[in-house]
Amino acid sequence: MKITMIGSGYVGLVSGACFSDFGHDVVCVDKDESKIAALHAGRMPIYEPGLEQLVASNVAAGRLTFTTDLAGAVAGADAIFIAVGTPSRRGDGHADLTYVFEATREIAAAVTGPTVVVTKSTVPVGTGDRVEEILREERPDVEIAVVSNPEFLREGAAIGDFKRPDRIVIGTEDANDGARAQQVMRDVYRPLYLNESPILFVGRRTSELIKYAANAFLATKITFINEIADLCEAVGANVQDVSRGIGLDNRIGAKFLHAGPGYGGSCFPKDTLALLKTAEDFESPVRIVEAVVSVNDTRKRAMGRKIIKALNEDVKGKTVAILGLTFKPNTDDMRDAPSLAIVQSLLDGGASVRGYDPEGMDAAKAMMPDITYCSSPYEAATGADAVAIVTEWDIFRALDLKRLAGVMVAPVMIDLRNVYRPGDVEKAGFAYSSVGR
Ligand code: UDX
Repeated sequence: MKITMIGSGYVGLVSGACFSDFGHDVVCVDKDESKIAALHAGRMPIYEPGLEQLVASNVAAGRLTFTTDLAGAVAGADAIFIAVGTPSRRGDGHADLTYVFEATREIAAAVTGPTVVVTKSTVPVGTGDRVEEILREERPDVEIAVVSNPEFLREGAAIGDFKRPDRIVIGTEDANDGARAQQVMRDVYRPLYLNESPILFVGRRTSELIKYAANAFLATKITFINEIADLCEAVGANVQDVSRGIGLDNRIGAKFLHAGPGYGGSCFPKDTLALLKTAEDFESPVRIVEAVVSVNDTRKRAMGRKIIKALNEDVKGKTVAILGLTFKPNTDDMRDAPSLAIVQSLLDGGASVRGYDPEGMDAAKAMMPDITYCSSPYEAATGADAVAIVTEWDIFRALDLKRLAGVMVAPVMIDLRNVYRPGDVEKAGFAYSSVGR
């Protein structure tokens, strides 16, 4: 099959590379010439484990190409995926669909015969209808079915998530060529279909909503356990044991019950807000999600105060080492990372901040110019009054605690990811606090 991927960002590139690995002919398009030039040179614009090798092998096999020429890439394609960004619109939280509609118009101008246009970008309910309207207005002469096929990729585990998905969701409209679109999508995902990954065929609006509902539910699960963690601290209980105790109930499930500094990243914060906007537009409030958004926002700064509390309520003139800046491990993504709010509250309190992150420091430097960036956890801790683990990168799981304590002014550790067992850290001489225990 010939597949065109419009947008070679995180989702487009991972999806395009995986489709080519299934044996399809894939061309990834992007407006950004420097990005396409980098891809031609074998350099990845993002950090994602395994992606570079996957891209290299499929380019070598001649199944994966990159271009800035959208029209050329669209001509003759069996399926055209839209995987462009949908950032939060400044000020109101609505998803900004400018790039989606721009791509739609360019596709309309370039199609040469019947095809299927698939929205992979996370788009609000009803966007598929709008995409279809545009295509119909501009190209009444060609049969173009519009499908919703949301992605459920986690950064850092995206290739595995793509190749071994819990489910594939496909939203089609019967009225507009739905049966043909379903067949094309079945062919696109055939290797997974043969692997018995469940494929759900649903209506297009339903598919669009599934994506938001899934992310909002996961954000709710995290926020729930974070509030239970606070309650654990208040009553003298242990949140890790509570998570295990409730997670073993199959109806609840053990995943996404790790208490921490609050969720961040490119999806949960943006998608929960966009869901609230849809709910408002349709006058059907989802008050649980309203609470989740506000509790999570408050939590990030509260984690800054937790660090300040561990330093006897005063950080003026003190130095804090932050280990882990990205919103989670195995990514270089700093979007909505809890570290941003935590660092700001420490700086506001008059502290100096030293930071270390295995992959995120380039992006962090642009967003937090006022901290000192270091080349190892030990360098970051040198001369510090406290060290805070904000992201659970593997390399922070087995720190030489004696060495760490040795380079600090005072051995104080605030472990916002519950990486360590309290006894182990205390044995190394640390005053230790963690989340919910
Ligand atoms: C998420 C969804 O998992 C994915 O399906 C969707 O397509 C995009 O959004 P991602 O943003 O890459 O993926 O990260 P994820 O691993 O889900 O973590 C999101 C945030 O929640 C991180 O900040 C993480 O630290 C936090 N988290 C996650 C917790 O605090 N506790 C948990 O138990 C799980």
